Amino acid sequence: MTTTLSVIGVGYLGAVHAAAMAELGHDVIGLDIDADRIAALQAGIPPFHEPGFTEILQRGLDSGRLRFTTDYADLAHAEVHFLGLGTPQKADGLGADLSHLEAAVASLTEVLPVREGAPTLVVGKSTVPAGTARRLAERLAPVDGAYLLWNPEFLREGFAVKDTLEPDRLVYGVHEPGTPAAEQAVAQLDAVYARILEREAPRLVMGYEAAELVKASANAFLATKISFINAVSEMCEATGADVTDVARAIGMDERIGGKFLRAGVGFGGGCLPKDIRAFMASAEENGVGEALSFLREVDAVNERRRTRVVDLAAEMLGDLEGRRITVLGAAFKPNSDDTRDSPALDVACRLRAAGALVTVTDPEALGNAERSLGDLVQLVPGTDEALHGAELTVLLTEWDEFKDLDPVRTASLVSAPRMLDGRNVLTPQEWREAGWEIRSLGRAAVPQTKAPQASLLVGV
Ligand code: UGA
Repeated sequence: MTTTLSVIGVGYLGAVHAAAMAELGHDVIGLDIDADRIAALQAGIPPFHEPGFTEILQRGLDSGRLRFTTDYADLAHAEVHFLGLGTPQKADGLGADLSHLEAAVASLTEVLPVREGAPTLVVGKSTVPAGTARRLAERLAPVDGAYLLWNPEFLREGFAVKDTLEPDRLVYGVHEPGTPAAEQAVAQLDAVYARILEREAPRLVMGYEAAELVKASANAFLATKISFINAVSEMCEATGADVTDVARAIGMDERIGGKFLRAGVGFGGGCLPKDIRAFMASAEENGVGEALSFLREVDAVNERRRTRVVDLAAEMLGDLEGRRITVLGAAFKPNSDDTRDSPALDVACRLRAAGALVTVTDPEALGNAERSLGDLVQLVPGTDEALHGAELTVLLTEWDEFKDLDPVRTASLVSAPRMLDGRNVLTPQEWREAGWEIRSLGRAAVPQTKAPQASLLVGV
């Protein structure tokens, strides 16, 4: 069944959602107050790098099922409205800035007609502190027949299209589970997601606050898992162990699982860092600040990894002043051009601040890097060109083309074969054999000599 729906806020989440809904066969109108973004999307030009997005955007536009606007009046006919607005960290604190979301609900309320016999469903997808949906629902209450359902989004950048069309699970937060109004809203959203539900994606209905907390807890858990292995990585550095051995072995325990145990320079991006801070701020506001105080440590471990890269670079070069360093990576993770709170760019800035002459390269993110850094560092497209003259190479975003670098060939491009692998993706042995000095986070400087066989038998 085709539904007419709108997506308000076509940033990363909203733009992918809009195109994905058109892909499912719905009539979709995407709205944003950023006229340039709307013009680009309407012309089929994706405002960010996301594998598979250009194709579904173009297909949606060509089919006539997808269009974009800056005018709320164009939304009045839609039966379902998705809220995909950003909730960035507040400029003056740890909490989430909900102003975009609140402004959107106010504007939407003004144009929502009372649709005879057919309820209007508003679906929140943004990451918000617990209590937000209930407050926004009160604002919608004056509109007869309008119902707010909170349906958090779990997509990962780089896999956004797949995650939207084939989610692990769908979470529906409703005002009061089990009431006729809630059941009707659930049925209405089920109709929109019918093709996703056919693939047997689990769909969980719960109260507003639980749905909001599912998202906050999921991101906090992922951040904690990364910082956990990075804390262990500090122990590995202190004791001479190899963190990749530890991570591989503990990850084989099904209760722990191997995903999100990649030790390195840590997490960044537009979600995990701000979401753990917003979660802490929300816990304070709810009088249970202590319950989530460990997230402060999660943040601190993450921050220390960035400092550690700079310290390690200084150890390798003796002194950073005037030394030529090439940073491989600008995006916060591979297959994305997003540089928000990118560990790679942050480290590049810190190296520059310490006096190094820094060159950064990235297959997709140099445009965004330039917008945020200006000419603070040298931005060079093309890995070979960027490596030219490097006295130290620092790998900070694990794009395939960096992971696949050939140590012998790469040695011929740089001025000194020194590699700092900030993501533990290179095989140190291979690089050492090609004449490189290679250091990693969470691995001993020189491989441990194999313990004699007999020592394994002690105590047997
Ligand atoms: C994250 C969540 O994974 C999504 O489920 C969620 O929907 C999204 O935030 C959001 O709230 O919108 P994303 O920010 O795209 O998705 O990135 P992740 O894949 O989670 O990676 C985050 C950071 O952690 C990256 O900098 C990555 O390099 C780092 N990371 C990840 C590690 O350092 N080690 C790992 O083992 C995994």
